[in-house]
Amino acid sequence: MTDRPLLLVTRRMPPAVTERLQRDYRARLNETDEVYDSDRLVAQAEGCEAILCCSSEKFSAEVIARLPESVRALATFSVGYEHIDTTAAKARGIRVTNTPDVLTDSTADIAFLCLLGAARRAWEGESMLRAGEWVGWSTTQLLGVHVTGKRLGIFGMGRIGRAVARRARGFDMEVHYHNRRRLPADQEEGATYQADADALLGICDFVSLNFPASPETENFLNAERIAKLPDGAVVVNSARGTVIDDDALIAALKSGKLAAAGLDVYRGEPRLDPRYRELPNAFLLPHMGSATVETRDAMGFKCLDNLDALFAGREPPDALV
Ligand code: DGY
Repeated sequence: MTDRPLLLVTRRMPPAVTERLQRDYRARLNETDEVYDSDRLVAQAEGCEAILCCSSEKFSAEVIARLPESVRALATFSVGYEHIDTTAAKARGIRVTNTPDVLTDSTADIAFLCLLGAARRAWEGESMLRAGEWVGWSTTQLLGVHVTGKRLGIFGMGRIGRAVARRARGFDMEVHYHNRRRLPADQEEGATYQADADALLGICDFVSLNFPASPETENFLNAERIAKLPDGAVVVNSARGTVIDDDALIAALKSGKLAAAGLDVYRGEPRLDPRYRELPNAFLLPHMGSATVETRDAMGFKCLDNLDALFAGREPPDALV
């Protein structure tokens, strides 16, 4: 069968996704899983009708302009799409789709793991144990920040922010949120809306950043905003690294202004600012918000559902442009 569309798949996919895409498409796979730079991307796309890509590849206006004429769609294996210039894609008539919904719960789980891991000094405890340095239980060892009854401020109350709020309720936290607009009451998950982001910062024991990366949210958590937080607050970021000013966060973790941070995402991944690795009060994970078997399969299937629709002449369910 040669009538199946030719698909460039930029990264290694989970086995179930690979099986389906090889069944339904002619697939140009990336067996080594290395990240393509823009020249490789453009070269690999030769003759392809669509690209199944990831947030590790940058589709700037310049790259999009160089893509072969044959490319009709970019299906990104991610909910975030800051790596794709959607305006440039639209101008070239290239459809772009993402994977909302299916990673909401796993990403909120990781946000909560970061919150608890940072508050309860999980990395310090595990490191002590693995290094053979644990001399036994003591009343003053590794005392962390209490979670129950504390105030959590969620910045960005989209699907993932709301799922974080649901988890926080289970921990008896008092949840507040800031969002561009107030949500209808039935979507607020019992959280209190704060129209003024800075006022919310002033009352947060915990901050969870859950808005997408964009020019408007670049360096949102900067030195000025960190100064507004109560002393000893805990910061959690499961969104994108660019929403934090690393110099400001590192200084606040070093000085003790902040008790701890739980981070799953970094500016310039995978080369995070090396100073984070030296900070005992930084609980660090390697961008694994959506990393469960079920979620990654569902993300791949969603990419394929979108492409199937497009090639069948239907509107892709998750079309961004
Ligand atoms: C997403 O879906 O945006 C995840 O962070 C993976 O990039």
